[in-house]
Amino acid sequence: MTNKEIKKIMNRAYQFVEEQQRALDEGKITEDQWYEIHKQFFTTSYLTSDSPRAQSGHSGDEYHYFHSHIMLLEAINNNGTFLDVGCANGYLLESLDKWIQSLGYYRLEFYGLDISEELIQLAKNRLPHWKQRLFTGNAFHWTPERKFDFVCVKELNYVPRDKQKAFFIHLIENYVEQGGRFMIGPYTEEIESSEMQDVLSSWGYPPTGFVQKSHQRHKNFSRKLLWLDN
Ligand SMILES: C[S@@+](CC[C@H](N)C(=O)[O-])C[C@H]1O[C@@H](n2cnc3c(N)ncnc32)[C@H](O)[C@@H]1O
Repeated sequence: MTNKEIKKIMNRAYQFVEEQQRALDEGKITEDQWYEIHKQFFTTSYLTSDSPRAQSGHSGDEYHYFHSHIMLLEAINNNGTFLDVGCANGYLLESLDKWIQSLGYYRLEFYGLDISEELIQLAKNRLPHWKQRLFTGNAFHWTPERKFDFVCVKELNYVPRDKQKAFFIHLIENYVEQGGRFMIGPYTEEIESSEMQDVLSSWGYPPTGFVQKSHQRHKNFSRKLLWLDN
């Protein structure tokens, strides 16, 4: 199976993302339009469901959600602040808070950022106690007033392909506290593949740690989380 075929299976939005990248490459849309079209597409698709889990972009049930996201706790090695870049309706922040409290784990203060005004408004309605900690902005253009001990982004495709390295460096340099940890994931990759590790290493940022788990629903794939210490 080719990499393209694998990505098609794993990412329901693959075709849309490819079409938009092509339109940008061919000059049919501007970069601002690229962001706007993506924002509308994902906001509309998340908000077709009433389930808070689906409104954060997860298609599986709560068991699979837990299995794929609990690995984030393995990267938490201290008390501190935690920012989810692309937090949608805040479901991940809410889930991590619940898991951490039930385990008596480290104490984290949660923050979220999303490009979609509607999803951030929904997050604020759902989590009014965190209202002041939920921000609207394009993570590539936005710079936080303060840095965070833990910063998590699910993937780097929140920006056009040729901007991903600059996006990654912007997050590392402007979002992550000195001594803090930057995480990418959990994302899905073929078990044998190390594509993301290789890309980061080729940019001069080899990951300092990672977690890899079986995918459960697709036996040739695994879920991965990488991190880099600043
Ligand atoms: C798959 S959801 C991730 C939800 C949550 N972080 C999680 O892991 O469960 C991706 C979110 O990223 C947001 N997003 C995409 N591009 C972005 C950008 N350039 N800046 C900020 N948020 C962005 C989308 O609006 C969407 O809500």
